[in-house]
Amino acid sequence: MSRIETEMMSGWEFALGEPEEHNFKPVTLPHDWAITAPINRSMKQAEPQGFRDRWGIGWYRRNWVCREIKPGYVYQLQFDGIYENSTVWVNGIEAGGRKYGYSRFTLDITSYIREGDNRILVKVDNTSFPADRWYSGAGIYRTVKLLELPQHHLNPEEIHVKTAINGDIGIVTILTGVSSLVRASISDDNLRIASESANGTIRLEIPNVKLWSPEQPSLYHLELSLIEDEQVVDTYSLRIGVRKIEMIAGKGMYLNGNPTKIKGFCIHQDAGCLGVAVPPEIWKDRLLAFKAMGCNAIRTAHHMPASELLDLCDELGLLVYEEPFDKWTGGAYRRYFETEWQADLEIMVKRDRNHPCIFIWGVGNEVENQGQESMLKILKMLKEHLLTLDDTRPVSYAMNPHFKYESNADLAKVKDIQQFVDEVSDTEIYDLHERVERIRKIGEIVDVISCNYQEQWYPAIHEAIPDKLILGTETYQFFRGHPDQMQNFSDEVPWIDVEKHDYVIGGMLWTGIDYLGESMGYPAKGWAGSLFSTNNERKPLSYLYESYWSEKPMVYLAVMDYSLQDEGVKEHWDTPRYASHWSFPQFNKTVIPYMIATNCEEVTVELNGKQLYVNKPASYPNRMMTGFVPYLPGTITVRGFIGGQEVCSYTLRTAGPAVRLAFDAEELRLDAKDGYQKLFTVRAKDSEGIPVFRESSKVTFKVAGPAEIVAVDNGDLCSSESYDNNWMHMYHGCVSTVIRFTGEKGRVVLSAFSEGMYQADLVIHVV
Ligand code: GAL
Repeated sequence: MSRIETEMMSGWEFALGEPEEHNFKPVTLPHDWAITAPINRSMKQAEPQGFRDRWGIGWYRRNWVCREIKPGYVYQLQFDGIYENSTVWVNGIEAGGRKYGYSRFTLDITSYIREGDNRILVKVDNTSFPADRWYSGAGIYRTVKLLELPQHHLNPEEIHVKTAINGDIGIVTILTGVSSLVRASISDDNLRIASESANGTIRLEIPNVKLWSPEQPSLYHLELSLIEDEQVVDTYSLRIGVRKIEMIAGKGMYLNGNPTKIKGFCIHQDAGCLGVAVPPEIWKDRLLAFKAMGCNAIRTAHHMPASELLDLCDELGLLVYEEPFDKWTGGAYRRYFETEWQADLEIMVKRDRNHPCIFIWGVGNEVENQGQESMLKILKMLKEHLLTLDDTRPVSYAMNPHFKYESNADLAKVKDIQQFVDEVSDTEIYDLHERVERIRKIGEIVDVISCNYQEQWYPAIHEAIPDKLILGTETYQFFRGHPDQMQNFSDEVPWIDVEKHDYVIGGMLWTGIDYLGESMGYPAKGWAGSLFSTNNERKPLSYLYESYWSEKPMVYLAVMDYSLQDEGVKEHWDTPRYASHWSFPQFNKTVIPYMIATNCEEVTVELNGKQLYVNKPASYPNRMMTGFVPYLPGTITVRGFIGGQEVCSYTLRTAGPAVRLAFDAEELRLDAKDGYQKLFTVRAKDSEGIPVFRESSKVTFKVAGPAEIVAVDNGDLCSSESYDNNWMHMYHGCVSTVIRFTGEKGRVVLSAFSEGMYQADLVIHVV
């Protein structure tokens, strides 16, 4: 006897509007009906939702053939998230549902099923207002599982694994959630230890423990078996990691005894052209790209993510700041706060507390009455409840830089809550002392002071609250506030504040990767102020952060290009218009501003073989080298030196006309199961293979073999071309497509065509 977990991702049908026979069309999960909806400029909450019409009621149905109802078994349906207000029927009987679109829920369907055909019907009601401040998508966009469980079984949500370190011994304490006998074994390639207990707690000691960290994310396999009458009646396995996190006042965060700074990105959960229907392998490629530039942490703004994302963070080594909801009674969650906060908070903590990647819990983001008695009461209530579910991690709350005096505003009538919170009105508190006093009151409740965009006040906050550490839960990329003006445009990069003060444990940029929604106005469909575009292309400032975060020697060059389009980025999150190319046909010896990012001691610059004099990187503010160079077509090379030795270089060449397309690889092998998706990018190149940054021709993709095209994406959030196509124009010389594999082994050929250019072919061997 043991549990069987089966993913239910295929075989569904979907109807928008009325659940009538002729409306239903086959779909594969994960599914987001809003991403293929037409752009609608006049819909409700158009800007926050990126102009994609998510309003409406959707229906999903599926047949499930149950060969045998096993005696002594219970059957459950588990939805990791449905956006939103879902109701589930099994064979016509209502089984339950969940309002909040980011919470997992599990339904016991044992008494509704029968042997043979069973009908599952799911109603998804996206008509309730207000929606999120970002694109939320619509539908069954996360994993669905059927669980067949022995009557007496282990409940993963009641299992709590706590770890500690004593010398080189890892101490693992398992709260089993049952009062029956449970056997536990911990193993990896070289070790297997076991123990058992019937009192609900098992303690195991791992000798010479391999600790989990972002650099070495060592995991162990924990298997728990429930024993009754000397028989194993259920077995549940999970991966665990042993690590110690200490927040030491004045000194910083210590991970396994080592001082560690959070080099982090905030992220939203969509992936551009896929909307919110994002399979884990798509996030895996994104997270690997983050890690490659030295990022070691993410913040899942502002809700619990898909559970697979946290599995990836455990596996790849990324620390996670997780929070259950955005504003409490002020924003979209105000529809649910009063009745659901406790359940949603519990769902998050119980689902995720065994992940070693989670280093801190947040309980909210930027509420409107910060530091006022009404707010402190809720903050205390949330923290106290969270501690009953997990007392092993610090708890925090991400503070808005705006503090206000009490006002009589009726929040239920406020149309745009973000604007209300951010608007500098006559209730704004300017006095630093009064502001810090409110932060101090928040600091009495939270374990870490989490500040969004408040570097300019760090010294004052630290002076008032020396016993607590500060984390920048949101930071701009390039600009930073001024103590008297809140936001200004002096180029003091916020990361430098993290380096400067031991009491600041890190900074998390808003955001790592562009996302849909939170548009600053048409034609922008999303937020373009990030370090990566929606199709995973790196933007110039990502190299500056690599120079701060990575130890691997690097050097990079970009130049100012004011011919780039305005991407509609909110001003303080914007960055100077740098681009990494050397093709300015309109210039002749015109001086162009440049920036060089490097972590080397010295850099040389050569233009067409002639050396230009530059100072040492350390002598520039922000260690970002800037200057001017007269434009001459040809080659410009920057070289990085450490100890007098050249350790890296970077070259830009003037491109000729685009004559061919090229994928980043010509051939690759992939272990792709049914439903596996991957993004591939094709670039325009000239006759010498130099990328043509300015090329914007239309590219058409075709695929042969066991795979299909899901969507196209060029990273341009101002474009109104559909994602739901096999063609799109290039942006900054490239365009990407996501393809889905059928699970059959064999040869897939992905081809890209553009008029007047040689086609590109990519051969993928599915093994
Ligand atoms: C913050 C907020 C984020 C995002 C960001 C950019 O205030 O917490 O969710 O809205 O601003 O506008």
